[in-house]
Amino acid sequence: MNIVILAAGQGRRMHSDLPKVLHTLAGKPLLSHVLETARALKGSGRICVVYGHGGETVRNALSSDDIAWVRQEPQLGTGHAVLQALPHLDPAAQTLVLYGDVPLIRPDSLTRLITEAADGSLALLTAFLDDPHGYGRIVRSSGRIQRIVEEKDASEVERALHEINTGILTAPTACLARWLPALGKHNAQGEYYLTDIVALAVSEGLPVHSAHPGRNWEVAGVNSQVQLAALERIHQGQVAEQLMEQGVHLADPARLDVRGELHCGRDVFIDVNCVFVGQVDIGADVVIGANCVIKDCSIGEGVRIHAFSHLEDASVGPNCRIGPYARLRPGTVLAEDVHIGNFVEVKNSSIAEHSKANHLSYVGDSTVGRRVNIGAGTITCNYDGVNKHRTVIEDDAFIGSDTQLVAPVTVGRGATLGAGTTLTSNAPPDTLTVSRAKQVSIAGWKRPVKKK
Ligand code: UD1
Ligand code: CA
Repeated sequence: MNIVILAAGQGRRMHSDLPKVLHTLAGKPLLSHVLETARALKGSGRICVVYGHGGETVRNALSSDDIAWVRQEPQLGTGHAVLQALPHLDPAAQTLVLYGDVPLIRPDSLTRLITEAADGSLALLTAFLDDPHGYGRIVRSSGRIQRIVEEKDASEVERALHEINTGILTAPTACLARWLPALGKHNAQGEYYLTDIVALAVSEGLPVHSAHPGRNWEVAGVNSQVQLAALERIHQGQVAEQLMEQGVHLADPARLDVRGELHCGRDVFIDVNCVFVGQVDIGADVVIGANCVIKDCSIGEGVRIHAFSHLEDASVGPNCRIGPYARLRPGTVLAEDVHIGNFVEVKNSSIAEHSKANHLSYVGDSTVGRRVNIGAGTITCNYDGVNKHRTVIEDDAFIGSDTQLVAPVTVGRGATLGAGTTLTSNAPPDTLTVSRAKQVSIAGWKRPVKKK
């Protein structure tokens, strides 16, 4: 099967410099959603994308080996668009036409449409809308499809029809090769209408069948930010429903955003307003507090992530405690039962089992051993303004509060650093190291008094 995706239109109502099909839904360009669906169906066929408005931006953003790109310039209508794709299509196969700005179409609806056309006929995906305004209407006679009439060309009687053309259709490619060059543009918009192939098929005696989408939102297009936001909510609602059906407990399915893939083990609870980006894998019995952002992470079993935590490109071992207000930056690897508390930032560091940094710290470019306690206000000074250096803290070390570790530096196994230490050379194992100005108390000292 050939698949042609129409994506040359301007999308004027988006009021944006970005070509419409590159606007994102669930963090991914609209066109990527359609491409994904096309790939799910296509079998061995070719995918051809007709692009135009915005120049090469669309092609450059989504280039891939399995796509034939066809530039349509100028854009003279949907019929003209498919005509440009024709030289790239296998004439022996069927061609399915999809729209780059209709992102939520589901493979099962398309499969039903393709089945309708299996006998070599033309098949249209049509829908019944309470408000058909703006769409092409399906004109039938004795139940059989005769033609499609565009809103702007329709009579009052035709405008009252509620069966609309979604634009998605499939036809034998050999027929398209005959019909498309024959299209005229004597219509209200002066465009070559793809929809006019229906009347041509009827005049040749070719049957025209129809199929309907599972749900009408599958065929909703994006023409404005308002419509984009509406489809985003529908999509997120579907994702939330799937997660709940797999057993995930969501505090509120309307307050979850998944922009990528989220996999959850059994008995996971997710509180409100969490955003998951990229690939996120969550083990069993994990609890995620409200307002967390988690991107490209793997979270082990039994982990608690408290509210307002931000995790990116991190691996969190089983039974860790994170947050509230914790930040795990790329390259963070936490082993089992590590505690990262409020206002602690960890970057490009590994922290071994049972270690804790519970308050107000920065741990960067560090290797931290087991059972290490990092006191409040500890900072690894990893950056000298030019290069990054590593800090090593061995097993069972105790880092007193308000300590700076000026890297490169190593704290030996079982070492203790006194509070307020600025460590500039290695701390030996099993020893107290402290750098601190000696405390003095001055007897007889008086506070200054205000001059008269
Ligand atoms: C089209 C259909 C209409 C249908 C509606 C569904 C025609 C003549 N009409 O109308 O029956 O109800 O879609 O939304 O087909 N495009 C190109 N090149 C062009 C023109 C359009 O690639 O020269 C692309 C657009 O980017 C868009 C799609 O084709 O993805 C539809 O174009 P649009 O102008 O929105 O068609 P409508 O007038 O809405
Ligand atoms: Ca449209």
